[in-house]
Amino acid sequence: MKIRVDSVSIVGLGYVGMCTAATFASRGIRTIGIDIDEKRVEQIRKGEAPLHEPQLDPMLKKAVKEKLLDATNDISKAADTDTTFLAVGTPSQNDGSIDLSYIENAAKDLGNVLRETRGYHLVVVKSTVVPGTTNGTVKRFLEQSSGKTVGSEIGLCANPEFLKEGTAIHDALHPDKIVIGSDDKKSANQLTRLYRKFYGSKLPPVILASPEAAELVKYASNAFLATKISFINTIANIAQQTPGVDVGTVARAIGLDPRIGELFLKAGPGYGGSCFHKDLQALINYSEKNGYNPVLFRATEETNEKQATRVVDMAEKLLGSLSGKKVAVLGLAFKKDTDDIREAASIRVINELEKKGAQVVAYDPMAIPNTKKQIADLIDYAEDAHSALKGADCAIIMTEWDHLRKLKAKEFRAYMKTPNIVDARRVYDPDTFNDLNYVAIGVGPRRA
Ligand code: UDX
Repeated sequence: MKIRVDSVSIVGLGYVGMCTAATFASRGIRTIGIDIDEKRVEQIRKGEAPLHEPQLDPMLKKAVKEKLLDATNDISKAADTDTTFLAVGTPSQNDGSIDLSYIENAAKDLGNVLRETRGYHLVVVKSTVVPGTTNGTVKRFLEQSSGKTVGSEIGLCANPEFLKEGTAIHDALHPDKIVIGSDDKKSANQLTRLYRKFYGSKLPPVILASPEAAELVKYASNAFLATKISFINTIANIAQQTPGVDVGTVARAIGLDPRIGELFLKAGPGYGGSCFHKDLQALINYSEKNGYNPVLFRATEETNEKQATRVVDMAEKLLGSLSGKKVAVLGLAFKKDTDDIREAASIRVINELEKKGAQVVAYDPMAIPNTKKQIADLIDYAEDAHSALKGADCAIIMTEWDHLRKLKAKEFRAYMKTPNIVDARRVYDPDTFNDLNYVAIGVGPRRA
């Protein structure tokens, strides 16, 4: 029997779902995006990207125009496709565990739809879920509401994604691997065939695994990357105490060892974003529930949390006291080229500065609206970097935006009351900032 693999539906049009939907459609695969948010659905149907991501907007416009991508809030449309991806959110709960209610609802609603269909339908879990979720919760809800059996009429795979914000479309088109977790060959074969159609001769290595192993790959990947950052931040903090040392040189040298690798060795104010903290917490919680305390990952998180305090300590050391001092925070986004401030180090730094009585004025080219939603009028906002610097006692560089990188020492001197600079992103050359009160993470004091 020939299995058709040329139409897919994607439930949940957040970051992952939206980028996945657009890239599938861009490869000629008929795609239906499904989301409960009507406004979002309408926007997508007009060909407008509901989130900021390079390349997404034109890709989406083209796909909608060519009728390869449609969006709806009616999950019954999933029945018109061969394969449904679940890409709904799995937010953190207070204890660090993930909230499975969206995935439960999606599985239940999809199961109800599949009750009425004939033929085989493959369900693929793309959401980040702890090991056992696909084969446990998702399978149970699907079977209960469809009245069908997973493994015969319904196929089921876990298939995590590894997209980075800002390069998500590129990452989706050029992944380094595809991980397919399934207990039955038919499901794995159908998904492999779909990806073969998507990537053609450029199909990356496909790792076939159990659903639980596939789920753990995603957590292991993010835990490793986060730990690599906390590792280099630890070395940076040691370097900073050591005259004549710049952690950049150390990172470059160790990165040349292929066992270490050069990427994710940029020291800074600590990682942010929607994944690392959430996934580390979920992994720690999962592990603890199973009776193992993963001390390494606790240390990764603690190191990250404390890095923000170090940044504020650096400012305090320059100024003596922060009380009543005007501090310009340049950059709010958790990394450049995004308006996302989720778990951003800038927010941790701002909270610390506020506790110490500083008057904070912040500038970011994109992330001010999101920051206002989170911390409202706790701080002042500036329209550009120069206005933020005006009359400031100290400037802290929190995001590595290209135009902030281009600011010259003389601009800091001209605008600020006193040119105290804490370079938490290490964007400036310490030599050219020599005659300012300049300190950077991971740069040791000058030798006397
Ligand atoms: C991350 C993972 O990279 C991705 O595979 C996963 O699917 C989702 O989580 P993302 O959150 O988009 O992606 O951002 P990423 O580029 O990984 O950066 C995360 C944080 O780490 C940022 O705050 C960044 O500034 C910081 N970082 C990154 C460093 O401090 N140093 C580095 O060397 C690299």
